[in-house]
Amino acid sequence: MRIGFWKNRISRIFISSFLVVIVAAMTGCAPFDVNVSQSTKDLQAEAEDENLTIVGFSQLGSESAWRTANTKSVEDSLTQDKGFFLMSNNARQSQENQIKALRSFISQRVDYIVLCPVQEDGWETVLTEAEEAEIPVIILDRAVGSDCDGLYTTFVGENMQEEGSKAGKWLETHLSDKGLDNKDINIVVLQGTENSSAEIGRTAGFDNIAKEHPNWHILAQKDADFTTARGKEVMADYLKKYQKIDVLVSQNDDMTYGAIEAMDDAGVAAGSDVAVISFDATKSGLKLVQQGKVNVDIECNPMSGPLLAEVINKIEKGEKVQHVYYLDEKVFTKDNVDKFIDSRSY
Ligand code: AHR
Repeated sequence: MRIGFWKNRISRIFISSFLVVIVAAMTGCAPFDVNVSQSTKDLQAEAEDENLTIVGFSQLGSESAWRTANTKSVEDSLTQDKGFFLMSNNARQSQENQIKALRSFISQRVDYIVLCPVQEDGWETVLTEAEEAEIPVIILDRAVGSDCDGLYTTFVGENMQEEGSKAGKWLETHLSDKGLDNKDINIVVLQGTENSSAEIGRTAGFDNIAKEHPNWHILAQKDADFTTARGKEVMADYLKKYQKIDVLVSQNDDMTYGAIEAMDDAGVAAGSDVAVISFDATKSGLKLVQQGKVNVDIECNPMSGPLLAEVINKIEKGEKVQHVYYLDEKVFTKDNVDKFIDSRSY
């Protein structure tokens, strides 16, 4: 527990409650759109229970099935019976909203801030404010830029660059199994949200492998924002523009669903005419692997809640934590998907 923390705890919570009430009264809704996960009345009642650790959680949005699973994992892990009081905010893909939420958490003097950053850049100022307020920040899922390295306590999430390189390595093996390792291979890429570490890492990881193969031609890499609608739109453009596409790299399952619809509309067989590489490995993505429409699904693990709780508990006990924690992630193809699909909860 941070020094001097408890002596102000009860008054802080009452001040927070007071602020929530005032702003809510003025605006008719929660301040800065922060969804305090319980009513103010409950919040006050919690002040009597000194064992709860207050966590302000800024989730970047709800753009994908993966994101929904990630939010649920955090909410299920930071519950009151596990000793936490969670205040969540959904930023609806806006960094501005995330910064507002963080400032609101700082002014309410939460014990911890958990940030899933929509993009890599632009966090230095607000993270410095959190540091000055002595509130430990945990970065979850996506990374922040290296300029912020000293401004957060730890990162818990996925190794996006490694995911991209797994995709490249799978393609190497796939082409060699088919005797196509020396043929010209045309590749199109649907990228996730621009400047997000998920997009940057997956792109870099795949590109590094692609560079070793002069016969791999990346025809286009466009932002489709991790959504099905944009995935469909951008893939439809690619299909109109390029006569021969051999491989689609789609940086998440949601964009893949849209891309498959675009291929269906154009009479192109996903998984055979065009080899499809997807990311996330949600249950619906894995079903497409079973059906042969997606050739490989690179797992991006959204179940970071339990590790997040463990790390916070360690910090609370004054134990040392690592600067980076990566979650375990697999690669799914027709060969192993049956073993895992039934237990997939998202
Ligand atoms: O940051 C993780 C990525 O963000 C997931 O791949 C994607 O589905 C989500 O929206």
